[in-house]
Amino acid sequence: MCGIIGILGKHEAAPILVEALKRLEYRGYDSSGIATVKDDGSLDRRRAVGKLVELQDKLVFEPLKGKAGIGHTRWATHGEPNEKNAHPHTRGAVSVVHNGIIENFLTLREELKCEGYKAVTDTDSETIAILCSKFIDEGDEPLVAARKTLLKLSGSFAIAMLFEGQKNLIFAARSGSPLAVGYGKNEIYLGSDALALLPLTKKVAYLEEGDHAVLTREGAEIYDIKGNSVSRQITYLNQSINFHDKSGFSHFMEKEIHEQPIALERAISSYLSDSTGKPTFNLLKKINFTEVSRIILVACGTAYYACYVAKYWIEKLAKIPVEIDIASEFRYREPPIEHATVAIFVSQSGETADTLAALRYCSGRAEKIISIVNVSTSSIARESDEVLEIHAGPEIGVASTKAFTCQLAVLLLATLKAAKDRAEISSTDISKTVNNLKNLPAILNQYLGNVNSLKDISYKLSTTSDVLFLGRGLMYPLALEGALKLKEISYIHAEGYASGELKHGPIALIDDSVPVIILAPYDNLFEKSISNMQEVIARKANVIVISDNDGLREAGLKSETSIEMPKADPLLAPLIYALPIQLLAYFTAVFKGTDVDQPRNLAKSVTVE
Ligand code: AGP
Repeated sequence: MCGIIGILGKHEAAPILVEALKRLEYRGYDSSGIATVKDDGSLDRRRAVGKLVELQDKLVFEPLKGKAGIGHTRWATHGEPNEKNAHPHTRGAVSVVHNGIIENFLTLREELKCEGYKAVTDTDSETIAILCSKFIDEGDEPLVAARKTLLKLSGSFAIAMLFEGQKNLIFAARSGSPLAVGYGKNEIYLGSDALALLPLTKKVAYLEEGDHAVLTREGAEIYDIKGNSVSRQITYLNQSINFHDKSGFSHFMEKEIHEQPIALERAISSYLSDSTGKPTFNLLKKINFTEVSRIILVACGTAYYACYVAKYWIEKLAKIPVEIDIASEFRYREPPIEHATVAIFVSQSGETADTLAALRYCSGRAEKIISIVNVSTSSIARESDEVLEIHAGPEIGVASTKAFTCQLAVLLLATLKAAKDRAEISSTDISKTVNNLKNLPAILNQYLGNVNSLKDISYKLSTTSDVLFLGRGLMYPLALEGALKLKEISYIHAEGYASGELKHGPIALIDDSVPVIILAPYDNLFEKSISNMQEVIARKANVIVISDNDGLREAGLKSETSIEMPKADPLLAPLIYALPIQLLAYFTAVFKGTDVDQPRNLAKSVTVE
C-alpha cells in the first residue's frame, strides 16, 4: 500500500525523505515523489514512475531544495502507474500526498470542473489538491482551506499537505489509513508507518480515526473528528530493524522462511509456561470459554488460511462452533452476532482495511474482540479488547511466511486454552501437544537445513502455467495457502482444492501439463488422499506428493515426484507443511526471476477496501 512521509527539519529534506521512503518500499509501490517548500517559500516537486532509484536519479540532475517536505510511494488504485499520476499532487498553493480512496471524487471533480478547476490526472487523490487550492483562491487561510477540504471528502484517507509560503507547516489528516507523528529535536515528522520514522525518532503518536494535525517544528496540535484539541498517547518504538539486512540470504522472504524456528520459539514461549510440569496457557485469561457459544475468525489472504486451520482445531478440540470468513465479504453479508460470541481478527500488519472494517462491524455486537497481530501498535490492535502479538519480528517480504506459522502457533495455544476451559481435552493430551509444540522449532530447523531437493521440483514448476494444490482436513487450508504463495510471487496460475472435491469438476483440468501437488501426511486421511492421487495419475498429471517417509513408502513414490517431511503430530502438521509450500513458491519465483520481495501489483499491507 502507499507510503507517506513528511518532515519539518533543520536540514535539506529531499535526501531524508527518499531514505525514509526506502523503508516503506516493502509495502509495495509503482511510483514515487517528493515535494518541498523552498527557502523562497515556493512549492516544488520531483516524481518518477518505477522504483525509488528512478526518483533518486532525477534528483541528481534536478536537485530539490527546502527543509520542509512530504514524500509518497504510490500503489495505484485510480489511474495507471505513471509520472503524471504519481504523488505529490500540486495545484496552486498546495501540494498533497494521499493514501486511501476518495469514494466521491468523481462528483467532486465534476463540480470543480464546472467552476473552472479541471483535473489533469486520472487519480482520485488530485481532487484533494484541487479542492483545497480552490478554497485558498477564494481567500481562505491554508488551515481553513484544508479543514474545509476534509469536510467534503468521503472514503478512506491519510493525507499530508504543504502550502506555498509556509516553511514551517504540514497539515495531516487520518480517516481509515494509518498516520503517525514523530517528534525530534526542533524537528517533526509524519509517517504512514512508524517503521519509516525509526531512524529519525522513536517517539511517535498515532493519529486516531477522524483526527487531523497541524505540525510545526515546535510540535503538533492534534484535533479530533469534532475539532476538539486532543493529545494522543506518545509511544516509544522498540523495534530496531535494518531494512537492508538480509543476513546473507538473497531475499527477505528467504530470510524470513529461515527465521521461522526462532520466531516460533518466541511466539510459543510468550503464551506457554510449564516450569511446574503442568502447562499454563498465558493468553485470553479473561475469557471463560465455557460461556462462549461461537467463535468468529475473520482475516484476509494468508491470515485467512491460518483462520481456516484454526477452525478445524477449535471445533475438534474445544467443541466450539466456528465461523470463518474473508474480511471483505464478512461485514457486507451483515451476519447476525449473538452476544456470547468471541470475534478474532488475524492480521500480520494490523492495518488491513477490510479486516479493520470487519472488526468495527463486530464491535458492540460480539462479547469480546480479540486480535492476533504482528504489530501491537497497529489500528486493529488498538481497537481490540485483547491483543495477542505473534512476535514474528518485522516481516518485510510481501509474501507472508513466518507470520503465518506464528499465527498458527498462537491460534493453537488459544485452542488448547479453550479446550482446557471446557474440559474437552485430557491433561495427557494437553501435555503431549504442548511437548510437540515445544519441539517444533527444532524440527523446522532441521528440515530447513536440507531443502535443496526442492529446487529441482521448483525448476519444473517454473516452466508451467497452471498448478493444482490438493489437501484434506488440516491440509486443505495449506493447499489454499500453497496456491496463494506460488501465484503471488511467481505469477503462475495456481489453485488449492480439497482433494475430495477434485472429481466434482476441477479434474477436467488434469492432463500431462498440470503439476498436482498433494499435501498428505501419514494420518487418518492418508488413504483417501492416495486414492485422489491415483485419480489424477490415471489422467497423466505430474503428481508431487508431500508426505513423511511412511506415507511415501505406502504410496510407492519415486523421489523425484515426492517431498519427504519429518514425522509430525497430525495436529501440528500445518506448521510443518507450511515450509515446503513456502519454499516451492520461493525457489520457483527465483527461477522465474520475478521480484520475490515486492511482487508486481502487490502491497504488504492493503490499507484500502
Ligand atoms: C500473503 O502472502 C499476502 N501478502 C496477503 O494475502 C496478506 O496475507 C493479506 O493481505 C493480509 O495481510 P495482513 O495479515 O497484514 O492483514
